[in-house]
Amino acid sequence: MQKYTAALVGLGRIGYSLGLDKNREQPASHTMALLNNPRINLIAGCDTDSIALSKWQDANKKAVGYSDSANLYARCRPDIVTVAVNENAHLKEAVEAIHAKPKLVILEKPVALNLLEAEKIQQEAEKFQVPVLVNHERRFAEDFKLAKSYMKKIGEIQSIRAELCSSLCVYNPAEEKTGAYSLIHDGTHLVDAVLFFLEDDLPSTLKKISLENPSEKKGGLLSRASDLNNSEKKIKTVNSLLRFPIVTGVFRDEEKNVRQFSAHYSTSKCPDVTIGISGRSRFFGFEISITGTEGRICIGNGYLKLYHREKSSLYSGFYSLLNDRSESLPKKTFYFSNMIQNAVDFLDGKANLRSTLQTGINALSVLEEIKEIIK
Ligand SMILES: NC(=O)c1ccc[n+]([C@@H]2O[C@H](COP(=O)([O-])OP(=O)(O)OC[C@H]3O[C@@H](n4cnc5c(N)ncnc54)[C@H](O)[C@@H]3O)[C@@H](O)[C@H]2O)c1
Repeated sequence: MQKYTAALVGLGRIGYSLGLDKNREQPASHTMALLNNPRINLIAGCDTDSIALSKWQDANKKAVGYSDSANLYARCRPDIVTVAVNENAHLKEAVEAIHAKPKLVILEKPVALNLLEAEKIQQEAEKFQVPVLVNHERRFAEDFKLAKSYMKKIGEIQSIRAELCSSLCVYNPAEEKTGAYSLIHDGTHLVDAVLFFLEDDLPSTLKKISLENPSEKKGGLLSRASDLNNSEKKIKTVNSLLRFPIVTGVFRDEEKNVRQFSAHYSTSKCPDVTIGISGRSRFFGFEISITGTEGRICIGNGYLKLYHREKSSLYSGFYSLLNDRSESLPKKTFYFSNMIQNAVDFLDGKANLRSTLQTGINALSVLEEIKEIIK
């Protein structure tokens, strides 16, 4: 059995310690997911933080530890490099991983701090011909895969409501350099999941548009005169599926940071798509509700509910939505192990990547357009 060697850069929560969380579905870290796959041999780990590195080394004695990635690439040539460093180091570490020319780079979400950085990663990936899988985990999860396939059973799609609630500030300009705001930190998962449901066979694409061309400015884009006066902003990148949002419900805290918004879109598949993020909640919630003409799908962290129209037991001559018991719901999502298996299948030449650099960048483009409006 051919084994692929792997190295992991970034040995923090998603790199390592979430794999020790007993409440999470395991594997929940790159270390555990790589170790669990029989086709992978985890040969090296790297972290600039000596405490994180030594904790990881204590638990992974067969792998070699490095305190910087340049050293790692000078000494070994892994088939897979996983980059799980903080957002502010994604550009540097993703590009260095690509320059080391592994067969595959697995990059944590969000692709980068912003679209410009993400496009630099994409340019290097294309130049060095290195494929990149982005860990937007819901694309690999059994519950999300079932929800997507159930869409064909709920008739025409009337609305999609996607909502993320947490206590993390939605947008704070002071955190642009860290990415520590929920619009990008968790919003990337929410937008990626909505794009996943809206996509047909192919992912969405990016479109460069000129803001001076009124025929390309449709929908509710709240254009700004300042954009038109600034020659550097005349070209704007938008997503082919979700673009020109109407943004409502913007709530700011005392520091004027954004704590809440709703972005509304119309697409050919669904005339009414809403993406809402709140950073005012004293709970963590992630939910997408898709309503069709014959049923509804509600999916969130830890649950999937599939409803279909049936003769109502409440009102004679009416139909109501009832739980569809004919579908067996997955007990485990396998979100992490399926991601690693997709990497192995891709390297074996048996499958395409289910979450690519392009789909990751697509999510970022949607978030960036919202950011321009709310900031
Ligand atoms: N897919 C998911 O659901 C999910 C969940 C959590 C985090 N993440 C993402 O994973 C990434 C890491 O997040 P985290 O929560 O694990 O953060 P973390 O701070 O717990 O861990 C990051 C680690 O990277 C190390 N590091 C930073 N720069 C480095 C560099 N240049 N070289 C080597 N090591 C470096 C840090 O010392 C730290 O140990 C972020 O992009 C985050 O958004 C994704």
